[in-house]
Amino acid sequence: MKKLLFQFDTDPHPAVFDTVVGYDGGADHVIGHCGLTPGNVGPLVDGTIFTRSPKEKKNTAIFIGGSDMLAGQELLAAVQQRFFPGFQVSVMLDSNGSNTTAAAGVAILVKNRPLAGKKAVVLAGTGPVGQRVAALLALQGAEVFLTSREIQRAKNACRAMAERFGVKTTPLETHDDTARSKAIADAQIVFAAGATGIELLQAKHWQDNPHIELMVDANAAPPAGIGGIDSMDRGSERHGKIVWGAIGFGALKLAVHRACIARLFTDCTLVFDAEEIFAVAKAMV
Ligand SMILES: NC(=O)c1ccc[n+]([C@@H]2O[C@H](COP(=O)([O-])OP(=O)(O)OC[C@H]3O[C@@H](n4cnc5c(N)ncnc54)[C@H](OP(=O)(O)O)[C@@H]3O)[C@@H](O)[C@H]2O)c1
Repeated sequence: MKKLLFQFDTDPHPAVFDTVVGYDGGADHVIGHCGLTPGNVGPLVDGTIFTRSPKEKKNTAIFIGGSDMLAGQELLAAVQQRFFPGFQVSVMLDSNGSNTTAAAGVAILVKNRPLAGKKAVVLAGTGPVGQRVAALLALQGAEVFLTSREIQRAKNACRAMAERFGVKTTPLETHDDTARSKAIADAQIVFAAGATGIELLQAKHWQDNPHIELMVDANAAPPAGIGGIDSMDRGSERHGKIVWGAIGFGALKLAVHRACIARLFTDCTLVFDAEEIFAVAKAMV
């Protein structure tokens, strides 16, 4: 029986990245639907749960993506509400690679040293990746600060993660790299989660900082999100700090993403969100 992955995207186009990884994770067919909301997803869910026998249902799965984290969370809730006993399929939420990227990035940090009690700053943390990074760091016991160019956006992101994960994170407004360098002044962990191709810090802003221990830059497109970190850095030592660039930890992100897709087809009752995907990443790092 063919393994079918239904890609439910909240954006106007299903993400090509997610389609490719769907196939690489083991799906025989990936079927994309876009512009999905809690209001229009119901009939599509019905198509996944009413078409195969109980033993066959594990061969159908749902992947939720898109660039809006809150929209993704709401779509996941709507999909789950449509399920009822005996009529469900496995589902994974990974808006903009949020959960798989955050899980891989935080898993490498946890493997390096305990994070409890450390001050962590998530730079430009208002996007899907940054929000999930902030939540996972806080769940590890770190004291987390999340920056944005607009304080209201930072507050909204912190509130959303508090509601979803029950964690406390502190919003900070940082208009430019000088403000961001002040935000990391006494931090031990810095995680850059800014938009693709945006430099958030220059090398001079962190190289002489005596407090920073670990740094991760998620931005894979030049220029780097953190100047002085190479995208290929993989636990490299630079100026006394251990650093990872986007490609350096991106290999684990991709492996985690593929592994989660593969697992969707082993049972029809699985839900892969941040916590479950983080558990997969910790086991793989
Ligand atoms: N390495 C990997 O395996 C991997 C996988 C997936 C994604 N990524 C990368 O992870 C990063 C985060 O992804 P995402 O989807 O969460 O990002 P995003 O939503 O596109 O952007 C994150 C935040 O960047 C800030 N930003 C945008 N333009 C800026 C500018 N000119 N100056 C300063 N800040 C700016 C915005 O925050 P404010 O408006 O609130 O300031 C925005 O909310 C991206 O670079 C993405 O490419 C890496």
